[in-house]
Amino acid sequence: MVKVLIVKNYEELSLETALRIAEAVRSKPDIVLGLATGGTPLGCYRELIRMHREEGLSFSKVTTFNLDEYVGLPPSHPQSYHYYMFHNLFDHVDVRRENVHIPDGMAEDLDEECRRYEEAIKEAGGIDLQLLGIGRNGHIGFNEPGSPFDSRTRVVKLSEQTRKDNARFFNSIDEVPTHAITMGIGTIMEARRIILIASGEAKAEAIAKAVKGPKTVDVPASALQDHPDCLFIIDKEAASLL
Ligand code: PGA
Repeated sequence: MVKVLIVKNYEELSLETALRIAEAVRSKPDIVLGLATGGTPLGCYRELIRMHREEGLSFSKVTTFNLDEYVGLPPSHPQSYHYYMFHNLFDHVDVRRENVHIPDGMAEDLDEECRRYEEAIKEAGGIDLQLLGIGRNGHIGFNEPGSPFDSRTRVVKLSEQTRKDNARFFNSIDEVPTHAITMGIGTIMEARRIILIASGEAKAEAIAKAVKGPKTVDVPASALQDHPDCLFIIDKEAASLL
């Protein structure tokens, strides 16, 4: 059973999420965080930056692992998740570069990169707290519908809906990469604690299916029903079909 916290709006969602992450970092300064990209975490990251500047929240011992990265975009590409993470969080807090992990979508041997990524997570002691968004099709990370629940970090083909949803960040849909590296659902499920965030009516159906629908690979987020410590923080619109 996932726990659900329904909040008023996006601002409250961002605050509630940042407060939980900050509390986790304060109680375990060398915590391993799993981080997400997309529009939804931006408010949370802004709040964490504020807490770093104004309240002394330190990330100096924190290790991070991002969920995913596009294949074929260099870190300097404004739509790469490397760029996103440095621009929206890492450049503004005291996390150490060597403690930041994001899959390398430019790796010559992508399968080897996926193995290396899994190994790095293990070596770090596993992920303590994983932040997740959710796609309109119920994806988590880039685990599209049909992804096995025991999948590991691997190269995946993006669904047309995901490419369309993400086209708003590119000049045209043709520029949206066709493949990505993503942690698998099995990888995500091994995180000791998970917080999934969702805002807006467009996510309501995916949220309802993930929380109370049957567990099925057609809705990747429904795998989270089996996680022992998973909280959904969602606004009223995203909760409207619960
Ligand atoms: P979004 O993406 O936060 O930009 O809506 C979430 C996701 O696709 O996982």
